[in-house]
Amino acid sequence: AIRTRPCSASDDSTAAVVDTKNVTRDDFPTDFIFGCATSALQTEGSGLEGGRKPSSWDYQIQDSKTQAIDIATDSYHRYTDDVQLLVNMGVDTYRFSISWSRILPEGTIDGGINQMGIDFYNNFIDKLIANGITPFVTLFHFDLPTTLNSNYNGFLSINIVEDFKAYADLCFKTFGDRVKHWATINEPQVWGPYGFSSPGPNANAITDPLVSSHNLILAHATAAKLYKTTYQPTQGGEIGIPLAVEWFEPFSGDFQDVDASRRAFDFSTGWFLEPLVYGDYPFIMRALLGDKLPEFTDEQKELVKGSYDYIGVNYYTSNFAEAVPISNDEVYTSYTQYRHANLTAVGPDGKTIGPSTPGSSEIYVYPEGLRKALIFLKNYENPKIYVTENGYPDLRDDTIPIKTALVDDARIQHIQDHLAAIRDARNTAGTNVMGYIMWALLDCMEVGSSYKVRFGLNYTDYLDHLNRIPKKSAGWLKDWLAASTST
Ligand code: NOJ
Repeated sequence: AIRTRPCSASDDSTAAVVDTKNVTRDDFPTDFIFGCATSALQTEGSGLEGGRKPSSWDYQIQDSKTQAIDIATDSYHRYTDDVQLLVNMGVDTYRFSISWSRILPEGTIDGGINQMGIDFYNNFIDKLIANGITPFVTLFHFDLPTTLNSNYNGFLSINIVEDFKAYADLCFKTFGDRVKHWATINEPQVWGPYGFSSPGPNANAITDPLVSSHNLILAHATAAKLYKTTYQPTQGGEIGIPLAVEWFEPFSGDFQDVDASRRAFDFSTGWFLEPLVYGDYPFIMRALLGDKLPEFTDEQKELVKGSYDYIGVNYYTSNFAEAVPISNDEVYTSYTQYRHANLTAVGPDGKTIGPSTPGSSEIYVYPEGLRKALIFLKNYENPKIYVTENGYPDLRDDTIPIKTALVDDARIQHIQDHLAAIRDARNTAGTNVMGYIMWALLDCMEVGSSYKVRFGLNYTDYLDHLNRIPKKSAGWLKDWLAASTST
């Protein structure tokens, strides 16, 4: 059984973890990488320090009023502490992101390069490497320089493609001698057309997501092509894209529900994955959206197709998909309705797909969904995969004694169950998964819920100088990684 509320009743730090499924480090190849992740805006703070200018995401956090953007976990000043947390756990890699407006405050090269920002990331990367931690760098994790939003509406404009390319070029040129794992755009599905800001007066709920996603794909592909042609031959690294991946179980065995679950996948992960692998959108998207869905030119198809070395899988939860009848008379208010699939966490038996998590009403624990999704991804030419995010949210409750809050048995169980899912997808189904990166290195700002949720393997003490304290899961991971019998 999985404990869903590790931070409440018990104060017993020796509580045993049940049902380990006996997953061990040796179940994975020696070059399989283990790591933790965060992003710039969720950790750095110092939003207006060191020459940085605002990003489109800053305002959203400031509005929450619980912890201002100028603090976060203060990793801008305390990255050395963060590196120490990684060293303590013995992980291979740290996935973090570069804040675009920290190195290009106006978003463009013409607007000037901020040397203080470059210095910050150089020092950070050097520190990681000196400590044996491999940097795994995301170029864009939701924080678009504000100027690009005000200049041309960000990803709603094709102009973004050249600006993203120039930013990526600067990063490859500056950091690529040491960074060998690049991620272009984190969860393009989640970024959305307005990048967490309010839709403007001319917003179109149906076409805006389609247009901005089209530009996100072109921006990704353009940066990836630049890397593969100009930098990879000498620098020898790899580039890919972390996609939000959810698994959809058919609500019933009826073929309509089975179809609906496939449609839901096509309208979420497939929307991005299919162009990357095959050069065009899923057939069903074209069939249901018609010319509302932008077209790739032949040249763009060539550019997009194969523009990755790996696919990143950010997996958190699954849902059931139930068919919604297709009616031509219906007036659609949002493109998501075109998928004709109703998504629900509650199955026909009235039970949720898995236990809910204390920190999020939208995250249900369902490791089986990861196993199935990984196996399903084999259909896309069996790509190399990293699980670039997977994590368990607790609810922040400052009345809980820290000693108790550190006992995160549910997180340990969560990690083990998802490792077992990956092991099975690899070893019995032959998927090419080569890494598992956990969200998050430490409790930090959370998309949409500010600092009220704790995803970290390390505790951030918001009431005492943002001190970092390893949770039980951090110690568990260290022991688990060290228990390998091979060297
Ligand atoms: C998705 C995002 O990449 C990350 O920013 C977020 O904090 C986690 N998943 C958890 O929701």
